[in-house]
Amino acid sequence: MNSFLTFKKLYSSVSNKHICLWNKLNISNFSPETVTSIPPYFSFSNTFSNFDIENILNTMTIQNDFLNEDEEKSLMDELDPYMKKLRYEFDHWDDAIHGYRETERLKWNEENTKILNRVKSVAFPSNVAPLKFVHILDLDKNGWIKPHVDATRFCGDTIAGLSLLTDSIMRLVNEKNKGLSVDIYLKRKSLYVMKGTARYDYTHEILSNENSIFKGKQVLKDRRISVICRNEPNRNEK
Ligand code: OGA
Ligand code: MN
Repeated sequence: MNSFLTFKKLYSSVSNKHICLWNKLNISNFSPETVTSIPPYFSFSNTFSNFDIENILNTMTIQNDFLNEDEEKSLMDELDPYMKKLRYEFDHWDDAIHGYRETERLKWNEENTKILNRVKSVAFPSNVAPLKFVHILDLDKNGWIKPHVDATRFCGDTIAGLSLLTDSIMRLVNEKNKGLSVDIYLKRKSLYVMKGTARYDYTHEILSNENSIFKGKQVLKDRRISVICRNEPNRNEK
């Protein structure tokens, strides 16, 4: 299969211009005094203001048990024979990702098409075009994803990811203020939808087992497969 959207293409830092634009568009959306209760799968560093917490909760949403066991198995049954033929890449230490293999998929069987349509209907408004290819990232249990922002050249404002096979910790860190850091417990079979502030103003990463500690408890990640839907980049943003 011709893969045109690889992790390395996606790895980039967002330009400052972009951040300013985003802030201008969104600054008035949330009122600081109305922080909703923080779901237990978020762990915010204590430097967060209510405004910034609210901003994250509005732009990084998690649905636990988005998949049932049969659906997870159905995705794995279709993916795994292909993934197993690829070799994990343990790249040079300064690369953006360590211990992974990846592919993109256009055609899915009927059941998995239904699952992915469900993801797209949750993640993307009806006027937004999802990319036709779905990105599949298979992380070895000793692998991790370093902090990055998905390239705005290749991917629009929304990133929707299903986590298969294991729980893991995703960390978001504010690009301009590294003290603003939030850890998110991503459960196996959950769906996250990252947009707006979380997508543009924060880097995201998947922690290595060594660093995978959530609210004081170690979370050992096993092999992890993520199935990621993105949308077309907004041509005006480039
Ligand atoms: C990516 C990425 C996160 C995940 O592929 O750019 O950040 O959930 N993946 O695997
Ligand atoms: Mn990413």
